[in-house]
Amino acid sequence: MTRFVFNTAATLDGYLADRDHSLSWLFEVDGGTPDAPEHADHFSAFLEGIGVTVLGSSTYEWLLRETGALKDPAAWTSAISTKPAFLFTSRDLPTPPGADLTVVSGDVTRHLDAIRDRAGDRDVWVMGGGDLVGQFADAGALDEIQISVAPVTLGAGQPLLPRRLGADRLHLTSVEQRGQFAHLTYRVGG
Ligand SMILES: NC(=O)c1ccc[n+]([C@@H]2O[C@H](COP(=O)([O-])OP(=O)(O)OC[C@H]3O[C@@H](n4cnc5c(N)ncnc54)[C@H](OP(=O)(O)O)[C@@H]3O)[C@@H](O)[C@H]2O)c1
Repeated sequence: MTRFVFNTAATLDGYLADRDHSLSWLFEVDGGTPDAPEHADHFSAFLEGIGVTVLGSSTYEWLLRETGALKDPAAWTSAISTKPAFLFTSRDLPTPPGADLTVVSGDVTRHLDAIRDRAGDRDVWVMGGGDLVGQFADAGALDEIQISVAPVTLGAGQPLLPRRLGADRLHLTSVEQRGQFAHLTYRVGG
């Protein structure tokens, strides 16, 4: 059965990016990229299980900026794979030629069937940002959270998950050290 999984790196004080939407703090950590030896096999296995990626527009714009995918469509597939993605935005944003990208907006519950359909028997990667993940949690469509906690604090930035999810909903299922990162996995209930 398709599960909705939030998998991300975050700072120790719970941010996905700094105030300027930069991830420089992450890339400064030893092993701070998904292809680093301490993450590569885990990340490949995770991606293998994913049928669809869901992302919000800031995350999307960051990916476009970092990869140059509008000019080099191959950069999009290497960043996000050839699998379909759903972009949540209320704006008319440019898309990389040939990308399997469905642009949607509004209440996430209206899009869950289409997202599940495209995922087939695989999982959905809810990439972020945090509020979009919260919208999936509000809709009862968040099954797992995987966080690689970096040894960094920022004091301010884009929040990891700006919702109240109590201990009745979050159950810690695994803790692993991956180099400088603590990889935490939670089952989300309720
Ligand atoms: N550390 C990591 O591994 C990691 C992972 C993920 C993201 N990030 C970073 O974290 C930051 C997250 O930024 P963010 O908090 O602004 O989140 P975001 O989800 O990437 O973008 C938020 C924007 O998405 C659009 N949106 C969200 N929900 C929508 C809905 N239901 N319908 C229509 N549009 C919707 C809205 O913009 P518009 O409607 O105006 O387009 C909203 O302002 C980014 O800088 C990203 O690069 C880091």
